[in-house]
Amino acid sequence: MATQTASGARGRKAIALASRPGIDDERSDGTEPGDRVRPTVKPQRMSAVRGPVLTYTGDPFQQGLGSTMRYEADAIVAMADGRITHFGPARQVRTLLPRGTRVEEYGKNALISAGFIDCHVHFPQTPIIGAYGAQLLDWLNKYTFVAEQRFTDRAYARSVAQVFLRESLRNGVTTSAVHCTVHPQSVDALFTEASRLGQRIIAGKVLMDRNAPAALLDTARRGYDDSRALIEKWHGKGRLLYAITPRFAATSTPEQLAAAGRLWREYPDSFVQSHVAENKREVAWVKELFPRRKGYLDVYDHYGLVGPRAIYGHGIWLTESELRRCHDTQTAIAHCPTSNFFLGSGSLNLGRTTRRDRPVRVGLATDLGAGTSFSMLHTMGEAYKAAQSHGYALSAGHAFYLATRGAAQALHLDDKIGSIAPRMEADLVVLDLKSTPLIDYRMKYADGVEEALFIQMTLADDRAVLATYVAGRRVYERAIVQSR
Ligand code: GUN
Ligand code: ZN
Repeated sequence: MATQTASGARGRKAIALASRPGIDDERSDGTEPGDRVRPTVKPQRMSAVRGPVLTYTGDPFQQGLGSTMRYEADAIVAMADGRITHFGPARQVRTLLPRGTRVEEYGKNALISAGFIDCHVHFPQTPIIGAYGAQLLDWLNKYTFVAEQRFTDRAYARSVAQVFLRESLRNGVTTSAVHCTVHPQSVDALFTEASRLGQRIIAGKVLMDRNAPAALLDTARRGYDDSRALIEKWHGKGRLLYAITPRFAATSTPEQLAAAGRLWREYPDSFVQSHVAENKREVAWVKELFPRRKGYLDVYDHYGLVGPRAIYGHGIWLTESELRRCHDTQTAIAHCPTSNFFLGSGSLNLGRTTRRDRPVRVGLATDLGAGTSFSMLHTMGEAYKAAQSHGYALSAGHAFYLATRGAAQALHLDDKIGSIAPRMEADLVVLDLKSTPLIDYRMKYADGVEEALFIQMTLADDRAVLATYVAGRRVYERAIVQSR
């Protein structure tokens, strides 16, 4: 068994980012972004990583942390052909690996986790993160709808997709559920770039046929046709999945929502993503636009857009009966705390949302560009503050769950991603638990794993990501220099 020293080894410190092949190099296959690209999954030799591992075997919100969180202080995770083949204590697993298996040793100050999953994000808004001074509806008009008009340009769409995917991987995010723009080529750009990296991505063309600038509108017919063509082209190709994406009830006519529901019935294994109950003015506006519906969620329900694999951003202002409906139909909520604080939308009552008698599936999400960080660690820290504002203290064990297995469960993909176990897809993030001088100092006072995790979600960010693995391949590695 050959071993290697990890990049986070003592006596060295991170200062810059590595440029990794496949992330920031130019296209090598000569295709245009709109071309169908076959994912290049080559047979892989077995490889492995060694270090402390955190994963989950169930839902801590339902079953408690004690019986669902698994922490191994010194474990090996072995991978081949994109999947995990072995996981367990290093002393046991090392004897099972074929001779010559390369084992990357990350050391005791690292943490290996399933790759983070971002349940709701807008890649076209990468260029407008941090747009000043507006709440949701004004922010959409002033910044978002302006920025999204640039995506008629394929080359621009491709360049933004590259930055978005690179930043995701730099933050250990290996799967995202992504809103594109109204333009089909924005979906082509994202899927083409993601397929080069072998990432699992859920994405869809936004549907909007009213209440937005004319340049961003489709029609009920055209939105249906374009979405259908994109499903045929991309859904289930390699690791790519399609989400039917009405932007939100206010920008679709009843005809468009009905067409979206019809399309989902025709492709029942595709996904649905949208927004619900994010902002009080938005909720009131939807009530005006759909006066015959019982509430915001009922608009989507009426058109057949709730159910397993439907995921809605925010849900801050959902009523008790709407939460129960989410529970009954297995409709999921993407919790987007940095966005909610940034736009002044409010804060999700996570304790109420996950209540044990009618738990709603919840995954963590950045919601960039209303969200302000690609870092899921930072997002967990903000989820803690959102929960605190409702008198609920989110534990670190629960927060890491929401960014991994919980998010996978929200997306109904927990049989494939979100945890570390044999046969799961080999998407991993490796964290440096001492990534800044302050965190290094604070960790000296950490009493146990849970406190160490809580320190990470309170203080750490992209600098903590040592490496990201997608389908068993290391696609990002933090750059290092020798310290003086
Ligand atoms: N509601 C409708 N569109 C959007 C969007 O792009 N971002 C957020 N945060 N909310 C929305
Ligand atoms: Zn959003």
